[in-house]
Amino acid sequence: MTIRADLGSGANGGSSASRVAIVTGGASGLGEAIAGRLARDQWTVLVADINERLAQQVADNLRAAGRAVEPMTVDVTDEGEVAAMVDATMEHHGRIDALVCSAAVEARASIVDCTDDDWQHILDVNVKGPFLCMKHAVPHIAATGGGAVVLMGSVLGALGAPGYPAYCASKGALNNLAKQAAIEHAADGVRVNVVSPSATDTGLFMQMAARAPEPDKVIEMVTRSSPMRRLGTAGEVAATVAFLCSPGAAYISGAIIPLDGAMAARRP
Ligand SMILES: NC(=O)c1ccc[n+]([C@@H]2O[C@H](COP(=O)([O-])OP(=O)(O)OC[C@H]3O[C@@H](n4cnc5c(N)ncnc54)[C@H](O)[C@@H]3O)[C@@H](O)[C@H]2O)c1
Repeated sequence: MTIRADLGSGANGGSSASRVAIVTGGASGLGEAIAGRLARDQWTVLVADINERLAQQVADNLRAAGRAVEPMTVDVTDEGEVAAMVDATMEHHGRIDALVCSAAVEARASIVDCTDDDWQHILDVNVKGPFLCMKHAVPHIAATGGGAVVLMGSVLGALGAPGYPAYCASKGALNNLAKQAAIEHAADGVRVNVVSPSATDTGLFMQMAARAPEPDKVIEMVTRSSPMRRLGTAGEVAATVAFLCSPGAAYISGAIIPLDGAMAARRP
């Protein structure tokens, strides 16, 4: 018996020149690095972010380097805006092969001090956002023969961190949402995976360190606690996302991929 991976023309197969990716949170940090990497890999990339100015700047920079990139302003917590983002992508490009959900927020407060507003906002951006994006984009990804959804998780989806109740809860929920979606859409060829970085050299971690009285000490402490004794890099995260969006990952779905220098290996 011959078992053959029947690759469609989307992110599970076909030429990369025709592929279209939406990257939410693409205006900053890891999302910006992912958008840049996919664009260099010849994807057409929609940099979708609530920050219109930064999304435009990222798109301008990449376009100046000859890449096919467009900015898009979207609040991922608003279903109307998410639907409009997907509709506009379909109208201008006719297909969606990959969805990368990198938009996220965090706020530092203990459970006792975490406000109702902060809790709701963090859960809305970090969990409802990916849900709404999948809800509207997945049917189009399936229609082109399948493709990839990559959700940006965190080691804090499996570990507790004092001061981040809503963020930890949101990333734990995201992991299970990804598994659910992976099973539900496996037959459509839509692969759903989570990339789970520990602290990296950009984005939310560096913003958190910058707010501390002694940023270098925070970075040094986190670096020391890593088995590899260093932070992850945006390039390493982007490379993993690019792989998950490539035909080489055609049989990987429902996975939570640690990108943490062996930190997850410490857990039973
Ligand atoms: N930076 C790290 O070290 C690190 C570590 C682990 C996980 N992560 C995860 O990586 C992803 C990217 O985070 P980052 O560190 O690059 O952060 P970042 O703050 O640099 O980027 C997040 C982006 O999301 C956008 N955004 C926020 N709310 C939005 C909304 N409602 N709608 C649309 N866009 C919105 C912001 O404008 C920003 O551009 C997140 O999911 C984060 O949880 C980051």
